[in-house]
Order: sequence, then C-alpha cells, then structure tokens
Amino acid sequence: MDPPYDLTVIIPTFREGENIGAIIRAVGEVLTRAGIRGEILVVDDSSPDGTIPAVRALEDVFPDVRLVVRTSDPGLSQSVVEGFSLARAPVFLVMDADFSHPPDLIPRFLEEIRGGADVVIGSRYTQGGGTEGWPISRRIISRGATLLGRILFPEITDPVSGFFALRREVVTGAPLRPRGYKILMEVLGKGRWEKAREIPYVFMDRRAGSSKLRPGTILDYIRQVLDISRHAFSHREGAAWEEWEKILRFAVVGCSGIVVNMGILWILTRFAGIYYLISSIIAIEVSILNNFFWNDRWTFGKMPEHRTRSFASRIMLFHGVSAMGAAINWDFLFFLTQFAGINYLISNLIGIIVAFGWNYLVNRNVTWRRG
Ligand code: GDD
Ligand code: MN
Repeated sequence: MDPPYDLTVIIPTFREGENIGAIIRAVGEVLTRAGIRGEILVVDDSSPDGTIPAVRALEDVFPDVRLVVRTSDPGLSQSVVEGFSLARAPVFLVMDADFSHPPDLIPRFLEEIRGGADVVIGSRYTQGGGTEGWPISRRIISRGATLLGRILFPEITDPVSGFFALRREVVTGAPLRPRGYKILMEVLGKGRWEKAREIPYVFMDRRAGSSKLRPGTILDYIRQVLDISRHAFSHREGAAWEEWEKILRFAVVGCSGIVVNMGILWILTRFAGIYYLISSIIAIEVSILNNFFWNDRWTFGKMPEHRTRSFASRIMLFHGVSAMGAAINWDFLFFLTQFAGINYLISNLIGIIVAFGWNYLVNRNVTWRRG
C-alpha cells in the first residue's frame, strides 16, 4: 500500500496562538498548489495561550492537520523527535510556527529529497541566504554556534538550522538525545545519511510573540556537541566521525613532526657539526615536509575528493599555513607571558593549542578542501 502522504510537515509550538492558524493555512496552500499530499503535524507543549484551540479549530476544516499535545519533558527538540515518531509520510520537514521559515520553499525541499538527498537544510549562511531583523548580539551567538557545528560538519553551512527535511530512514532507530534547540545537529550526528543538500533562505524575525531562547541554550548546545562527538567515537562511522578521524590523524602527524624536528636538529648539530640555529632551519623545513607528506597521504589522502588543488599549490599553502601557525604560537607565547603574567611554558602550551586549531581548520578547508 502506498503511504497516505508524501510529506509530513512538523511544526513544534509553544505559545504560538497568534501565528499557528496563519502558518497552517500558508503551509496548506503551498502543499495544495504544488500537488503534494502533505500532513501538517503540530507538536505543542501544552501552551497556555490560544495555540491549542486555534489548531483544533483548523483540524475540523483541514483533514490533514493533526495536533499532538505533550504534557511532559517539554522542549523544542523533544517535540520534533516526537513528531518523527508520529509522522506518517516517508519524508519529514521541520519548520517554525512564527513565519521565520518561508513556507514557499517547502516544495523545493521535497524535490531535493526526490532527487536523492537524504537531508535537506534551509541555510542562512550560504549564497542567497541571510537573517533579517536580528540584533547584533543574536547574530554573533548564531555565528559562533554555526562555526562550532561546522567543525563536525564542514560541508554544511548551517548545521543549527531549524528548517530542514529528511527521509524517514535517516532517523529510524537513531539514538537521538534531544535537548535544547539544535535538533538538526543531533540528526546529522546520529542519523544515517550520506547526501545533504542546502537551500538558501532568509530568516525573518518572528511575526508575533517572543523567542524562547534562554541563556542555558548555549550551554545545552556545547553539551550536545560533546555528546555527538562521544557518539562519533563509540560508533566510528558517520560524518562527525570522519571529521574527528581527520583531527586525530592531523594531531598524530603533528607529533611525528616534532620527533623529526628534534631528531634532525640533534643529528645535524651533534654529528655534522652544523651550528644549531642553522640546523634548526633545516629541521623545521624537513618537519614541515614530513607533515605535508603524511597529511597528504594519510590524513586527507583516503578521500580523493580532498585533492581539488594541484600538488604544487597544496605544498605551498601548507607552508604558508605552517608559517602563520608558528607566528600565532609565538604571539601567544610573547603576549601572554609579557602582558598577562602567565608562566611561559603555559603560554606556549596555549599557543600550541591555538596554532593547532588554526593549522587544522585552514588546511582542512583550504589546502585540502573538498570539491
Ligand atoms: N513544542 C515546543 N516546545 N515548541 C517550542 C518550544 C518548546 O519548548 N520552544 C520553542 N518552540 C517552537 C516555537 O513555537 C517555534 O515554532 C519554534 O519552536 C522556534 O522557536 P523560537 O522561540 O521562535 O526560536 P528562535 O526563532 O529563537 O530560533 C530559531 O532559530 C534557531 C537557529 O538559530 C529556530 O528556528 C530554531 O529552530 C533554530 O534552531
Ligand atoms: Mn522564531
């Protein structure tokens, strides 16, 4: 038997009495116009305002509107996950009730899924996307959250989007631990998917009511990133694991570079009788070449898609990034010791960590960037 629907639109709500009626109508119209057999599933956390009666009133008019009223464990992510378990279509789409996410784009999400994507993400941070009506503070927080998320999912420009679609199979049996606001990260970190697509959109500030973003949201988010990493380490598969694998390999190669550097320095100075500062220049260059070679063969070498640049430009970029990394290391050593009164060994350690982050991220996304 065919599934009764092509698409389930999941709308989590809390205190959306002023928006929910209008968004249901808008989504309903878009679905009808596009010839999509869709159901609209509103997952509400016992809103005390008029949200529930507003949906009930529409349930009687539109047969494809369903309301679930949750009474325990409230939360946006929890509601979305409950929506996954109750949805009847093979494809789910999640969106906000407050018109921040344009309903007109819904058919494009489904098109991308039909074209083979497992996950389709509405992105504010790709060409053509953006945010409108946000104060600078919210922009900064959002940018920071996005950058942290992109360490785990570099190919995705907006891994914390609240506007996304997925095939049912992506989350079937996935050990989702919904918490906080970033349910998409959880899906990307623990779901089964290979192909992700992004659709640019402009996030509009909510039409009515107020946002429920709390200070604890940021902490929740950091915990979630750690939890997804833990999951990646124990399952050793999926996109987040692939990134961690590269980070670990890059670190191993970095350590091998230290051994090479010290070894050459010692051999040249001790046995070849070369002045130690001259030996050091040779030792540094050989260790850079050592690191380049192993990163090229091993860290990023498993995946030919990382070789979008010529050998010459890879090796040149790697040298530039390393030089800049050394300067960063040295700046931290100097400024933290000189002006912050921190012990020079600790300053140096901090410098090494920051330089490592720099080296990894730039090499990952520039030197060996994917096509
Ligand atoms: N069921 C339920 N329970 N729904 C909730 C809850 C809750 O505890 N809190 C919020 N919602 C619903 C709102 O009613 C709205 O439909 C949607 O979730 C988003 O809530 P907002 O409060 O409007 O969130 P926002 O605009 O600050 O955040 C948006 O941006 C984030 C990325 O920066 C949302 O799109 C998030 O999904 C997104 O992650
Ligand atoms: Mn909103």
